[in-house]
Amino acid sequence: MEPIQVGLLGMGTVGTGVLRIVEGHQEDLQKQVGSEIRIAKVLVQDKSKSRRYALESDRLTEDAWEIVNDPSIQIVVEVMGGIELAKTYILAALEKGKHVVTANKDLMALHGAEILAKAAEKNCDVFYEASVAGGIPIIRTLIDGFSSDRITKIMGIVNGTTNYILTKMSQEGASYEDVLKEAQELGYAESDPTSDVEGYDAARKMAILGTLGFHTSLSFPDVSVKGISQISKEDIQYGKSLGYEVKLLGIAERQDDLISVSVQPTMVKKTHPLAAVNGVFNAVYVYGEAVGETMFYGPGAGEMPTATSVVADLVAVVKNLKLGVNGRRIFSPYKEKKLKTPEQ
Ligand code: NDP
Ligand code: HSE
Repeated sequence: MEPIQVGLLGMGTVGTGVLRIVEGHQEDLQKQVGSEIRIAKVLVQDKSKSRRYALESDRLTEDAWEIVNDPSIQIVVEVMGGIELAKTYILAALEKGKHVVTANKDLMALHGAEILAKAAEKNCDVFYEASVAGGIPIIRTLIDGFSSDRITKIMGIVNGTTNYILTKMSQEGASYEDVLKEAQELGYAESDPTSDVEGYDAARKMAILGTLGFHTSLSFPDVSVKGISQISKEDIQYGKSLGYEVKLLGIAERQDDLISVSVQPTMVKKTHPLAAVNGVFNAVYVYGEAVGETMFYGPGAGEMPTATSVVADLVAVVKNLKLGVNGRRIFSPYKEKKLKTPEQ
């Protein structure tokens, strides 16, 4: 059986984890899909940089078009980040009939509709499980698991960096700056951590969750957002003295056809399950009219948890290729959204 050839755009925190899982779990993956999954080419910015994962130098390239234009590559995995270049490469790959897996919430929260429309036009898959809540399979849960229900509320801690910072400030009295530096060293933070601490990353994830949960079309500018950069150790200690933990919460709600989505630091009663979500862990609470309350918990960032979701998507694409189907995660055109204003 011919190997399935994959091009990997990016070999940083997530890309390294993808290589480790695909190559380390190859035997198990082959049993599932019936052929080798081979990462043929890997895009980096600087080939001379020392790497945490040993890779033959002829598999590295600094030219994305070597991957996008290679007819033997069937699937492109985008874990390079950023918006414009990643979008250009993904649209070009789809144009050539390649399937795409991405972890890029910045891109999906802004241009998801356009990318999914191109994928539908070309009969290609675009899977993006890792874009929200790292290792928690919340996207496939919303699309498949709750397709029968009417979801009215999605609430969660969806940024690992800020939860790590708030937890360390609360439990160890650590300083905001020191813990942010630690989160960057651990590979949790975005390349520009402003996205994390100002709540933009969580807002992008809530736009994606709201879009999927409410079958609508939300994007980043639809979310009202406030981050944690102004939260002091004193605020956290004061909250604790009253029986609360401060958490950066995303809340997406719909009443009839009106939708509101916000992200803000919130005092969460210590008895609430979300107050016990600590460190880099994330949790997403989903309320559906039929199912009632559900909650999903797991690591929200970092190399291996995130790569778990990326490679699961890759396996799903390969299974689809084998079956000659696609589009499990392409849905009908988005419905116009009606956002709730404060007066409503
Ligand atoms: P990193 O900054 O660690 O890695 C980025 C990689 O992409 C590097 O290998 C870099 O090359 C390469 N790269 C970046 N820009 C270019 C370019 N213009 N041309 C060629 N190569 C380029 O990022 P992460 O792995 O942390 O994140 C990747 C994506 O995954 C982002 O979209 C992020 O939001 C998302 N994500 C990250 C998570 C995490 O925990 N880190 C969790 C969930 C999603 P070089 O190595 O040479 O610098
Ligand atoms: N910077 C993000 C976070 C990575 O801390 O949650 C995971 O999306």
